[in-house]
Parts: sequence; C-alpha cells; structure tokens
Amino acid sequence: MPRIRIRDGPNRGIVYPVGKERISLGRETDCTIQLLDKGASRHHAEVFRVGEMSFIRDLGSRNGTYVNDELVREELLREGDRIVIGSTALVFESDPAPGQQVREILFTDTRGEEEVSSMTLELRLDDLVGIEEEEDRGTANLRAIYQLGRILGTESNLEAAQEKALAFLADLVDAEQGYLFALDEVTGALAPKARFERDPAARAQVSRTIISRCIKETRSILTMNAMSDARFKSTDSIVMKRIRSVICVPMVSRGAVSGVIYLTSGRRGEAFAEEDLEVATATSTLLGLTSQGLEAARKQRETFFGAVRMLVALTEARDSSTRGHSERVANYAQAIAREFSLTERARTAVQLAALIHDIGKAGIPEEVFSGKDTRLLSRGEPGTQHAVLGSRIAENIPGAEEVAPAVLYHHEHCDGSGYPEGLSGDAIPLGARIIGAADMLDHLVRTGGPQKTPLPPSEAVEQLRVYEGRQLDAETVRACAAAFKAGLIEESRTWFDPEADNPLDVESKGGGL
Ligand SMILES: [Fe+2]
Ligand SMILES: [Fe+2]
Repeated sequence: MPRIRIRDGPNRGIVYPVGKERISLGRETDCTIQLLDKGASRHHAEVFRVGEMSFIRDLGSRNGTYVNDELVREELLREGDRIVIGSTALVFESDPAPGQQVREILFTDTRGEEEVSSMTLELRLDDLVGIEEEEDRGTANLRAIYQLGRILGTESNLEAAQEKALAFLADLVDAEQGYLFALDEVTGALAPKARFERDPAARAQVSRTIISRCIKETRSILTMNAMSDARFKSTDSIVMKRIRSVICVPMVSRGAVSGVIYLTSGRRGEAFAEEDLEVATATSTLLGLTSQGLEAARKQRETFFGAVRMLVALTEARDSSTRGHSERVANYAQAIAREFSLTERARTAVQLAALIHDIGKAGIPEEVFSGKDTRLLSRGEPGTQHAVLGSRIAENIPGAEEVAPAVLYHHEHCDGSGYPEGLSGDAIPLGARIIGAADMLDHLVRTGGPQKTPLPPSEAVEQLRVYEGRQLDAETVRACAAAFKAGLIEESRTWFDPEADNPLDVESKGGGL
C-alpha cells in the first residue's frame, strides 16, 4: 500500500498508509497527519486515491504545497516524490512498482493466421462530438477528463504531463499495458516516452500495423480480438498473442500527428468498450493541446532568453575581463538555486536576473568601466549606479519586471555593508543573495580574490566561507558547497584568462561592479 513518510520535523519517521480513506494534513487536531508546523495551515492539504493512483490536493493553504519543489494545487504522486508543507518534508512511497526496469518493447511484424472473427471500431478525431452524459460511465469519464485537464493545466514539463496522462488513462480504462510514443516527423520512427505495465512478467508487444494505420488516417482505433482482424494482416501483418483488445489513438499537435497512445486490455479478460475509445481520444486530444502549449511557451522562453543573452553579450563586449561573466554567473546561480526549495518559475527568474544583473553597466561611462578614470570607482558610486540602472532596465523589459529587485540588490551584503540601500540578512531578496554568491564565485574563479591567483571552482567554493556572515549569508554559502558537491558547478572548465587584468576588481578597488 502506498504511504506517506515524515522526513523532517517533530513527527519524523512516522509512516501513514494511504488507503481508501483520504488523509488530511494540517495543524488541526482532527487532521490524519497533524503537523506541528507554523508554516502549515490548519487544514493544509489532503492525499487521496483514485484507483491505484494517489493524489495530493492543496486545500487553499496560506504557504502552499510543494511536490519536488513545484508549487501544486493537485498532483499525481509517484514513488519518491518529496512533499514540503511549511518546513515539514514528507516523502511519498509506493510499493515497488513491478517492472520498473526498462524493458524492450517488441514491435510484432510476423504474419498471422486468417481471422475467424473480428470487430474493429474506428473513430475519426473529427467525429468526437462528446461523451454521453446520460450514461453513468460517460459521466464518470467526463469527470475524469475534467480532472485530467486540471492536472495537465498545472504541469510545465511535457514528459511529466505524458507520464501522468498515460497512467491516468490506463487506470481509468483498466488497461493491462499502455505506451505513449512520440513520432519523429522526418524519419517516422517511434520513440517511447511513457509506459504503463501492470504485470512485469508480460512482454510488451505492440502492433506496428495498428499504429501505422492510426497515424496515417489520424484515426482512433479499437480492435477486439485483434489477432484475427484481417485489416491488420496485410504485408506488415502482426501476431498479437494474449492481446484481447487494443486501443490506439493519435496525438495531434499543430495539425500534425505527433505521436500515439497505445493501450492493451486483458487483465480481467475483458475487451475495451466504445467509451474507453472515447475517453482515450479525449485524453490524447488534451495531451496534444498541452504539448502544443508547452512547446509554444518553451519556444517563447528560448527566444526571450536568446535576445537577453545577445543584449548582455553586447554590454560585455567592450571589456575582455568581463566577457562571459553574466553567463557564468547565471550558470552558478542556477546551480545554487537548485539547492533551495524554489519552484521552476522562481528558478527561471533567478537565471534571468543573474543574466542581466550587470546590465546597468551599459549606462556607466566608458572611462569608469575600463578603469581609466579610477576616481570614479569610489565605493558605492558606480556600483549603486549600475544596480539601480540595471533594475530600471529590467522593469522595462516585458517579462523581466519581476526580477528587478534581485538586480537592484545583488550587491547588498548580509551584514548590511553593501549597496545601494545597505539591506541586511533576510531583508535581501533570496534571488539577490544567490546572485551575490554566484558573482563572488566567478570573481574568485577568475581572479582568486585577494590572493590574485585564479582558483579552481573547488577552492573558490571553499574560499566563499571567508565571506560568510559578512558579505554572504551562511545558507547561500552552504547551498554553493552543496551544488558543487552535486556536480552542478564544474571543476574542469576554465572560463577565465589568467593574464587578463580586471580593472573593476572588487577587492583592490573597494567598489567593483
Ligand atoms: Fe557581476
Ligand atoms: Fe554587479
């Protein structure tokens, strides 16, 4: 039986089985799992089962519910998922899923015997006018599709969306096996992206003929006793042993078939029904729309980041010692941010803020920037200027407005000795603290700090401890060390030019950018 294990906090180590009854989590005494945690709401979240799947649902809590660092409203739980409520960490454990190991999928191509009886139902995507609401099963399916739509609506990762949708559908139609294949537009090759197998011992047999027909005609197909269906026994015919019934539905993105969902029945000796075909088609339609939306968002994000990178590169082009600095700081910041429980959206914001943290330098006179006029390098002046200017630029870049504070405060110090406002401790936004540490890390890697000898990242990370409690807070320094230990901050790459002079050296000039 699946279970929730408390990893941290006063109830650490206690395990709660997830049975048919829902489990409530919160501070109230009537909760199944009472959390002695000020960060938790009185009735914070609940865990419930739908068939063999378990879900967590946030009950409108004040601080939110996180699964694997993502803020969720409702989420399918999988083995090892880390749930965070307030400062309490829990882990979802399920019985060892059979057949976890990746096994080969056998595409059957052997010629089969002639049919004695066959029954095939096909449904063009255009024909799907809706699910019969007057029937109980239809109503249940409609509700399930609505629920799936809500789950997919909060998913920002395509692979995770595909896995969830397949598991959800397979459970709903009681499939024995389920596969989701992506279709390569050029080669026509099928790549498995998600799989669902109830019996680890059963061999995965997939009919290439059925899939080909499904793709070619953009048609949802339900076959019963497929082994004996003449239509699938032409040149490329197949033998489908032990498969009593098959559903194959196309996924359509941007008007073209992007893949298929393939399901087999047989667990209880029952073939799929027409309602199963309808619900599978609705699922694939939803998934097609989801992948279309996610792909468009990804492209938009890439275009945006590409434009920002070009802008930053232009800013840095005038000084060889700072060339590539922002990109490196962004990479470090990304690595450090992973050690905090941030949402994907927050991590992207940190990356963007780090990329543009010094963009305000574009507005600093060349003489200051190149260090020729060192009089202007007195503490605070150019630093304050570039931080303030950078945040104003961020405020005026559509899509970057929310990162303006991280840019503005990236030179604040934890002991209050930084600028522009002399903030200290937690008053400095986390994004700014992460960028401050990443900035210092790059400075140490390039120049070695006071020692003037470029340091390998391993030593630079160690050296950061010197600044703990003064410039950097302990939490961020610890996150840097953890990120390095996890291999996120590379040791072998050399980004710096040891010969290059850094005219804006923070240590020697006491107020670098
Ligand atoms: Fe910087
Ligand atoms: Fe800076």
